[in-house]
Amino acid sequence: MIAPIVREKAALREMIIPWKRAGEVVGVVPTMGALHDGHLSLVAAAKAVCDRVIVTIFVNPKQFNNPDDLANYPRTETADAQKLERFEVDAIWVPDGDQMYPEGFATTVSVSGLTDCLCGAARPGHFDGVATVVSKLFLQTQADKAFFGEKDFQQLQVVTRMAADLDIPIDVIGCPTIREEDGLAMSSRNLLLSDRARVYAPVLNEVMERMAVALRGGASMKDLMPDALKRLETAGFTGVDYLELRSADGLGLLERADVPSRLFAAAWLAGVRLIDNIAV
Ligand code: PAF
Repeated sequence: MIAPIVREKAALREMIIPWKRAGEVVGVVPTMGALHDGHLSLVAAAKAVCDRVIVTIFVNPKQFNNPDDLANYPRTETADAQKLERFEVDAIWVPDGDQMYPEGFATTVSVSGLTDCLCGAARPGHFDGVATVVSKLFLQTQADKAFFGEKDFQQLQVVTRMAADLDIPIDVIGCPTIREEDGLAMSSRNLLLSDRARVYAPVLNEVMERMAVALRGGASMKDLMPDALKRLETAGFTGVDYLELRSADGLGLLERADVPSRLFAAAWLAGVRLIDNIAV
């Protein structure tokens, strides 16, 4: 059964009222569409613990700092709705730009500290856009639980902090990154890779896994960086926005993995920005 596609805030509210009145647990899976198995694993996690599940699809212009990136972002609504069919979700919330940001919209939600590094530093304004839209999605859907992938680990930290700071009564639940068989983290952006670039894209994860083994053995980032950058360059990566070891809690920069930590990377391959992170 194709879930109802809801495009108006008033209709969404009407739909949710009886669920809340009946005390049902409402889950939300926020997405920008171009759904892949990573998103579908979030939907499955939501279905397992919620009475009602809303999947949101909104390509949020406020989180793109590059107009070409926004224009090229894949939009596949019909295929997305078909992929959701087997999960029998209760609603697909697909607001248009005016529903989300009506004329005169003037509010920004900004989370400081956690957003100073990694994608926050490489993409100025990105996390303000994410925190603003996600706080709106939380309020619009009145969800009790929200499901996010660990692939965007910094985003997961930012929305968790935002919900706690704004007293939004929602459990933010992180779910493991889903990978292709060759290790490439699933991402809507993978659709933008040429056939040739797709062959080399898994090298990012390979390099990170190799570094993680050495870090677990006591190596320092300084020791490992030259070889890692060389391997990425050889595979055709044209730029590395960051390749950093950070604490899993608080994202403080580390030289060695002497506290629970994660390795984070963002790198460009044939014009596509790939990101990944793994536990060390
Ligand atoms: O991860 C995403 O797809 C987006 O950043 C999100 C959380 C849906 C907000 O637009």
